Amino acid sequence: MSRPKKKVYIKTFGCQMNVADSEQMAQVLTQDYVLTDRPEEADLYLINTCAIRKKSEEKVRSLLGSLKALKQQRPQMLLGVGGCVAQQEGERLLAAAPHLDLVFGTQGLHRLPELLRRATAKRQVDVALEEGFPPAQPRRWHPAATQTLVTIMRGCNNFCSFCVVPYVRGREYSREAQEIVAEVQDFVAAGGIEVTLLGQNVNSYGRGLAEPLTFPQLLRKLGDIPGLARLRFATSHPKDLSGELIALYGDLAPLCEHLHLPVQSGSDRLLAAMNRGYNREQYLQKVEALRRRLPGISLSTDIIVGFPGETEADFQETLSLMQEAAFQQAFCFKYSPRPQTRAASLPDQVTEGVKAERLARLLSLQDQLTLAAHQRLVGEVREVLVEGASKRSAQELTGRLRTSQVVNFSGPPELVGQLVPVEITEAHPHSLKGRWVAEPSPFCRRPEAHGSPRRLSC
Ligand code: 5AD
Ligand code: SF4
Repeated sequence: MSRPKKKVYIKTFGCQMNVADSEQMAQVLTQDYVLTDRPEEADLYLINTCAIRKKSEEKVRSLLGSLKALKQQRPQMLLGVGGCVAQQEGERLLAAAPHLDLVFGTQGLHRLPELLRRATAKRQVDVALEEGFPPAQPRRWHPAATQTLVTIMRGCNNFCSFCVVPYVRGREYSREAQEIVAEVQDFVAAGGIEVTLLGQNVNSYGRGLAEPLTFPQLLRKLGDIPGLARLRFATSHPKDLSGELIALYGDLAPLCEHLHLPVQSGSDRLLAAMNRGYNREQYLQKVEALRRRLPGISLSTDIIVGFPGETEADFQETLSLMQEAAFQQAFCFKYSPRPQTRAASLPDQVTEGVKAERLARLLSLQDQLTLAAHQRLVGEVREVLVEGASKRSAQELTGRLRTSQVVNFSGPPELVGQLVPVEITEAHPHSLKGRWVAEPSPFCRRPEAHGSPRRLSC
């Protein structure tokens, strides 16, 4: 008889890349562990950390501190910190937290089982940065999984002056295309509907591969997989967004009509200081080319306020760019100095008060733009991938449009995991309200070239 498995609890902070990494951690540990969502019964407690801003790092430190009590109650429990803060801090974390057993970085997740074995005898640190893409781990899909994240690259070579990622995730490497295609095929064969490809800068995918290919070429290969209904990706760097990629919108059926294109600032002076590799006009030209190709495309972005030296005039440039680009969504951040980065030692750091005031103005403008974009959708019938019960009510369902907006509507729980037609009835600042159009479904009459995964009422 096989031994009962131990329990692992994984707390994930940060971006989708971390979510994908946590999934990989669970996968490499399957021989000995099952996942639990109850930390108090864990034999192994892992924290996957984010270092992008100081606040993210502080959340990790505060959780780590609060786990002293749990470790005292359960001394046999192993406690490990992985991810970006672990990579950045290494040994220093062990010194700061005597109750910590293991520190492991952003790479070498496949070494986790071995590290854990050693950690039972002696505290361990493994923050080596490797070259190349790590060996593929076979993935097992949950039978109800309709969406998944697929990592296609790791690391970053861009060194934007504010960003810690190149230091904590190392140099950029692409994963072999045939591995990516096989993983997506596998997922779709198991009933999957939507795939999001992940990399820090997907537009530079393919450099350095044995058989180099471009990111749009990879998308074409994936777009040919029968049954894949939705294909997304993140993150796309504006400087490397090519005409070849823009031409795929509206042409490659599964490619969703949404693009996340972080601009960071609307001021040429700051874009240069940030080492972004494009100026305001070049960015807006790409936005225009995308809209010319596909007028209904929805665009989202990331913006930093209070970068060192940012004046009111620079900030006004950001506000006006936001209006010109008419983003459907923007993730806005106060600049946070990060270790090792160039911007951290620049003069003219902006005060916290000014950052907070500019952030509030930015968010207020973005709220207006988002609401206006939502109002334009009212009255339309759109395809929704139903993700589950809505946050507000178990009776209400929630899902996303291909253009990525959240829609809440009433419908039976059997719709979860399905692509269903929904009429948009109300626009709210952060979501849409809709009405499930039970019969007939306009999406069921579409050509079957890309399969018809679990569409209801056909
Ligand atoms: N301070 C504030 N925001 C940052 N980002 C990256 N580094 C920093 C920093 N030091 C933001 C950028 C990036 C997003 C993931 O996080 O906008 O696109
Ligand atoms: Fe950071 Fe710039 Fe790389 Fe994005 S492209 S991960 S912002 S260094």
